[in-house]
Amino acid sequence: MQDTILVTGGAGFIGSNFVLRALGKFGTRIVNLDLLTYAGNAENLASLDGNAGHELVRGDICDAELVAALLEKHRPRAIVHFAAESHVDRSIVAPEAFLRTNVHGTFVLLDEAKRYWQELSESDKSRFRFLHVSTDEVYGTLGPDDPAFSETTAYAPNSPYAASKAASDHMVRAYHHTFGLPVVTTNCSNNYGPFQFPEKLIPLMILNALEFKPLPVYGDGMNVRDWLYVEDHCAAIEAVLERGCVGETYNIGGNSERANIDVVTTICDLVDEMRPSADGRRRRRSLIIYVADRLGHDRRYAVNAAKLKQELGWEPAERFESGLRKTVRWYLENSDWVESVRTGAYREWIDRNYGGRPVFLDSV
Ligand code: NAD
Ligand code: DAU
Repeated sequence: MQDTILVTGGAGFIGSNFVLRALGKFGTRIVNLDLLTYAGNAENLASLDGNAGHELVRGDICDAELVAALLEKHRPRAIVHFAAESHVDRSIVAPEAFLRTNVHGTFVLLDEAKRYWQELSESDKSRFRFLHVSTDEVYGTLGPDDPAFSETTAYAPNSPYAASKAASDHMVRAYHHTFGLPVVTTNCSNNYGPFQFPEKLIPLMILNALEFKPLPVYGDGMNVRDWLYVEDHCAAIEAVLERGCVGETYNIGGNSERANIDVVTTICDLVDEMRPSADGRRRRRSLIIYVADRLGHDRRYAVNAAKLKQELGWEPAERFESGLRKTVRWYLENSDWVESVRTGAYREWIDRNYGGRPVFLDSV
């Protein structure tokens, strides 16, 4: 077994941040299996060109032969599994891809990992880890005064995306319970930071605000999310990978609950400050419109990450306000990256999701 990690989905938002950080820090070799769907972008990893420690393989986690061949060839000490369809709105419009990648793809990885792991020597067997990256959305939704999700909160997924992730979590658990595969699962809250595809709330709002386009807030804007800077998520994954207990799940959260409307107004003010309008008077807040709500929209997420702090000493390093400021600056300074992801497929999605969506009259 080599000091190699097989990362899946490492050209996406969180995966690419993880790959860049892990290579910079540990010098571990990374084989990166990514299908490069609309959400995957080799440019996220452009700074690794020529780095012998990283190999990007374009391929599908549902392809059992390919997964088996990669395991056989590279003999990794761990699999860190990010690859997924990740956008809730897309799972409402077209859920099938979520079942394919998130459920079937995770099953294929587990099954091939089991075959590979069973043939390792005893010492390599005990060192091997399958780390499954999952979401707090598997727990469903909270009322305003409910306690935050803990590792023992019952699963109650509400969107096709959340249901597909819940199914994958169960399959990971089953491969540990039934076959002894050394798995660890993480369930994290909403990430933000560099390289996030601009279909998600924060980058969508930054880029629309920059261009004085409408800022579409779903429903009453009072849905609450817990926000975590992506670097902090990657640090938590590292901690769980190196020191987490086999068979355990760890919740990861930012301790930063914010209503959507507050996130959007803060973004407006940051963009005004960094890129004022030509006459200096036009305020981005005036671009906010309230649009028809997301179907089945979860009201509130909050994560209790005490287990991770107590057992592995992890806590978030970034405050939401400073992390959001860094993120806005990153999008303003990386217009080439932005243009590279705003392809025809991106524009089609924006038309499909927002084109026919009713706007509440009192918001314009
Ligand atoms: P993303 O959509 O930005 O990236 C997903 C990556 O997976 C892309 O590079 C894509 O090309 C790749 N991929 C998709 N289908 C594939 C397939 N069949 N085979 C191989 N590669 C495939 O997603 P993200 O936001 O970086 O999320 C990564 C993981 O973290 C997901 O599992 C997601 O459920 C989980 N997660 C995300 C968040 C968040 O806020 N973004 C929070 C908690 C957990
Ligand atoms: O909680 C973790 C999850 O966070 C991850 O598992 C998902 O992969 C990730 O996409 C994210 O899911 P959300 O649905 O919470 O994120 P999104 O950025 O799509 O939306 C955040 C909130 O903003 C949500 O309440 C919906 C709202 N929203 C979103 C968009 C895109 C709007 O009001 N307007 C929008 O245009």
